[in-house]
Amino acid sequence: MMNNIKKQFPLFERHPDLVYLDNAATTQTPHCVSSAMDDYYTSYRANIHRGIYGISEQASAAYENVRTLVADFLGVSDSSQIIFTRGTTESINLVARGYAEKFLKPGDEVLVSALEHHANFVPWYEVCKNTGATLRVIPLLDDLHLDLESYKAMLSEKVKLVCVGAISNVTGTVNDISFIVEQAHKYGAKVLVDGAQAVAHQVCDLQKWDVDFFAFSGHKMYGPTGVGALYGKRELLENMNPLLYGGGMVVRVSEDEITYKDVPTRFEGGTPPIAEVIGLGASIQFLKDFSIDSIIEHERSLTACAHTALQGIEGLTLFHPSGGSGILAFNIEGVHPHDIASIVNNKNIAIRAGHHCAQPLHQHLRVSATARMSIGVYNTKDDIDALVSALDEVKKKFL
Ligand code: ALA
Repeated sequence: MMNNIKKQFPLFERHPDLVYLDNAATTQTPHCVSSAMDDYYTSYRANIHRGIYGISEQASAAYENVRTLVADFLGVSDSSQIIFTRGTTESINLVARGYAEKFLKPGDEVLVSALEHHANFVPWYEVCKNTGATLRVIPLLDDLHLDLESYKAMLSEKVKLVCVGAISNVTGTVNDISFIVEQAHKYGAKVLVDGAQAVAHQVCDLQKWDVDFFAFSGHKMYGPTGVGALYGKRELLENMNPLLYGGGMVVRVSEDEITYKDVPTRFEGGTPPIAEVIGLGASIQFLKDFSIDSIIEHERSLTACAHTALQGIEGLTLFHPSGGSGILAFNIEGVHPHDIASIVNNKNIAIRAGHHCAQPLHQHLRVSATARMSIGVYNTKDDIDALVSALDEVKKKFL
């Protein structure tokens, strides 16, 4: 079933020799996603929730239908708990500014992990600064898993929020979300999960995990850029303030009083990214058509193969735990990661190099930067082999 999948991605037709291994940064777009957006633009483009005419009603129905698709995909029974945003960063900022800033006070604590992307670190740093709460970091073990014993010891009634990624965007570490949530809830702390690197690569069952908030982006799941969503438990969303005030999110406005629409519309002020939401729906359908289980299996076998091959390269330090997902960071002794990326680019191989918006993690790893390959649904064993042989050339150039 995974054969010939590249044919569904027009970019690979235009760049047949491209080995694209930067899926953690952004994934490519299948034809079904661009054509769903094109269909909206060419057949029923209209604003939503405003027009009392055919194409506006059609656009509103398509937009709302995606809310149901997202809810289903994440195991959420009530789709009103899904809010469309511009992506993970905006989703986390919405919780940070609209919820946490409203309730946190001096003496409270927010826990983040040492693995976090800046999107799940910087907002909490700012919120703690603004409220007098304390930001504490769950440490990392040498095996690149979170130190869950330390985490348990850090929990107390003072902890109000725990903010962790489901999968690290650097090491591919897969966190045990059920355990993290279970422990936090013993103390009444809420848990926000950054699902950006997880939604297209593992089953995210929010009901089972019992998370309080979950954020993700469309562009890391074969959907469009500029769209994502926030899931929140209904009772929490009802007590959260919007980030964007304006049209579309109000019931009645007078000089003296304003009443707001119910959850989730209250959080979607202004004209939302309608085409992008529709494209996000198509990307979810795309993932469902393959079945997430076969995607997981395909990526697991490629990851195991990449892990073994990279580990076998002399002078290469691999930052990827056993059982990690298909994101593998590494360094080669004596070669700057930017040089690695640039040399493999000469062979038409796209990987990322730098701190990957995770500077605190790199401080823990005691390196300023890493090179990183990340697997997507269309990658093959040939792609891994191409990278491994290009890395041999990197070594030859620098020896
Ligand atoms: N968050 C994206 C990455 O890790 C941009 O590359």
